[in-house]
Amino acid sequence: MGKIGVVGSINMDMTVKAERIPLKGETLKGEDLKYIPGGKGANQAVAMAKLKAEVEMFGCVGDDAAGESLVKNLKEMGVETKCIKKVAGVPTGLAMITVGENDNTIIVVAGANDHVDVDYVNEVKDSLLECEMVLLQHEIPQETVEYVIELCAANGVKAVLNPGPARPVKQEILEKVAYLTPNEHEAVILFGEGISFEDMMKKYPEKLVITQGSRGVSTCLDSGEVILVPARKAKVVDTTGAGDTLNGAFAVALTEGKSIRDALAFANVAAGLSTEKFGAQGGMPAYEEVKEAMGR
Ligand code: RIB
Repeated sequence: MGKIGVVGSINMDMTVKAERIPLKGETLKGEDLKYIPGGKGANQAVAMAKLKAEVEMFGCVGDDAAGESLVKNLKEMGVETKCIKKVAGVPTGLAMITVGENDNTIIVVAGANDHVDVDYVNEVKDSLLECEMVLLQHEIPQETVEYVIELCAANGVKAVLNPGPARPVKQEILEKVAYLTPNEHEAVILFGEGISFEDMMKKYPEKLVITQGSRGVSTCLDSGEVILVPARKAKVVDTTGAGDTLNGAFAVALTEGKSIRDALAFANVAAGLSTEKFGAQGGMPAYEEVKEAMGR
């Protein structure tokens, strides 16, 4: 199993618990304010490192205390951080998260994540192209996402695009990714409303994986059969980062040589376990925990 890279966001998550998600214009009492590591990119990197993969994170932080502590956290989690750039005069990415009623809402302020640009990718290109697989999300500039996907395709590196938060992606770029992992909302933004989820998946067998929250995750096999791998029942505390755990675990299982069905089963269990503790990275399971839960 070779190195897996992530080109993505590194955020400080400012999380607060409330009895429910507030309505428009409403003020609610919150509790348990915490500043904890997050960012879809960093979360996916940590999820994979916890599953024993060799992982390198590519991204930017600001020259502030948050950036310093987030890079330290990545190192402690076993993620290679040598290419993470500290950008002077900009704040580290921040996500404001409300957790309530087994769900969340998130507002992201990109900060240094907007500096993950094409020039930066060229600076780190050598390390990036040592990777067997590279994961990307939508919390860095679109131009960078497209550039990395093209770079990967031209150099035989598999790119996994987790297209969240939702935004459109050019068709020719979609053709170049090895795996595409939207949720249902993101899938509609990518492919439009005029096509069913089933037809989308049939168009991209063993490549398009649509996540469906507590129902599980679907794909179309090369045989043409559309499968739903059901989600593992969980005692949900916080769903933040569950999608990131799913993507990370899916990538690790694929690089281990698992079939797409087995990789999704592994990823689903990892994602379910991650929801049982607070915080995006707080509940991410170790490899043995996933194996044990799968055996139960
Ligand atoms: O996917 C969860 C992540 O989205 C959070 O950690 C937050 O930083 C936002 O980027």
